[in-house]
Amino acid sequence: MTRPVILDCDPGHDDALALLLAVGDPRVRLLGVTTVAGNQTLDKTTRNALRILALAGADVPVAAGCDRPLVGELSVAADIHGASGLDGPDLDGPVPDLAGVHAVELMRRLLVDSVEPVTIVATGPLTNVALLVRTYPEVLPRVRRIVLMGGSTERGNTTPYGEFNIVTDPEAADIVLRSGRPVTMIGLNVTHQALATAEVIAAFENLGTRAGAVCAELMTFFAGTYRLVFGFEHPPVHDPIAVAAVLDPSIVTTVPAPVAIELTGTHTRGATVVDLHGRTGRPPDTDVAVAIDVPAFWHLLLTAVAALPTGRP
Ligand code: RIB
Ligand code: CA
Repeated sequence: MTRPVILDCDPGHDDALALLLAVGDPRVRLLGVTTVAGNQTLDKTTRNALRILALAGADVPVAAGCDRPLVGELSVAADIHGASGLDGPDLDGPVPDLAGVHAVELMRRLLVDSVEPVTIVATGPLTNVALLVRTYPEVLPRVRRIVLMGGSTERGNTTPYGEFNIVTDPEAADIVLRSGRPVTMIGLNVTHQALATAEVIAAFENLGTRAGAVCAELMTFFAGTYRLVFGFEHPPVHDPIAVAAVLDPSIVTTVPAPVAIELTGTHTRGATVVDLHGRTGRPPDTDVAVAIDVPAFWHLLLTAVAALPTGRP
């Protein structure tokens, strides 16, 4: 089974791992990559996506999307991902050209041209995906599922109850969750279990390939900022779990639940209000990740990176 996928991302260290997983695992046919402002400004997240795809030797169309949330101003995460958005490894070198259209237009074209429904994996703020939903409703039946890294059934990371991707653009998240398409939510409650320990980083280093070395450098940088900002001993790699959930749905356990986005809370704007116990009477129309098979996830990511056609460091 090979799944056609569009990956919308804001690279970002963990987005970079998600890109490498999507390129390296044969169970995904990566139709295209779209970029959005989030971890860094759009120009930087776009440049980073191109640099990672060049590293992976991937020939897929890339298009830049929205440079700010639907409402309000962009607040980047330079404290976590650095000034470039991908601080750590040296990724300089030639990069492929952009597709020359807006991300939403590229998504539309890929959806129309695909012979089978497409899974959209979103690992950044949902601004591009929300604009697709609102601009081209006629192509939504060609969206098989939207698998998003975002939110949490518990606490947040950017605010006490808000996770970065959702807090950055709550209105976009609300539009996507109410799009009528199947949605899987991979939240912090699950991603915080996939920690890049020293043993994990060493396993990538020991691949003896350039891609393996870059992954180790990405996770090492991420470890430093996560320790400094959040006091984590090891950094959680959020985004590749969203791709892993498409490749092998057994990697995560999900439950159907209503998920509402808080849009007006003074202290809770951007919170994902997950009704795990059916208290609200609202339809349980989102598949919410509640558990992850961590060893299986790391094996899947390591195998994909090992398969990338890159030379020795
Ligand atoms: O909260 C974590 C999420 O926000 C990840 O996708 C990370 O890359 C940032 O975009
Ligand atoms: Ca991200």
